[in-house]
Amino acid sequence: MLWVKSLHIIFVTAWFAGLFYLPRLFVNHAMAGDAATADRLLAMERKLYRFMLPLMVLALIFGLWLWLGYGITGKWMHAKLTLVVLLIGYHHYCGRLLKNFAAGRNVHGHVWYRWFNEIPVLILSAVVILVVVKPF
Ligand code: HEM
Repeated sequence: MLWVKSLHIIFVTAWFAGLFYLPRLFVNHAMAGDAATADRLLAMERKLYRFMLPLMVLALIFGLWLWLGYGITGKWMHAKLTLVVLLIGYHHYCGRLLKNFAAGRNVHGHVWYRWFNEIPVLILSAVVILVVVKPF
């Protein structure tokens, strides 16, 4: 069980590296003053987003293994799963924003992306407190 939990935490951490960095690239992209900078950022965003998907899937597989395989559950897990669904939605929405940048259809400014970048921080904090403290 501890190997599965270790792999769960490793892939959650790697996934979050992308969830923190991709919106930061969007902040810079929204401020880009020339096409060369915008193209370079777009290439970085595409590579990073492509890399984040298998990390997300592996984090979820090991999490489900812990929950369904070892039967580790409780009310905290239901709250955690609600936040995980929000996180998957956030990941997917980043893909939509990336498509908008690629098509020259981005409508948000860098300030909007700075606030958008804070959402994974809040979700991570809540999930870690739920799974470690298990308040209910
Ligand atoms: C389908 C999604 C997920 C499921 C079913 C799941 C399930 C679990 C379970 C059952 C544990 C073991 C808890 C224990 O041993 O007390 C665990 C540990 C953990 N999970 Fe998840 N998890 C999921 C996604 C996530 C996500 C997205 C995060 C981060 C935001 C996360 C962070 C953690 C952490 C930090 C631990 C280690 C807690 C400890 O060692 O006490 N999990 N997860």
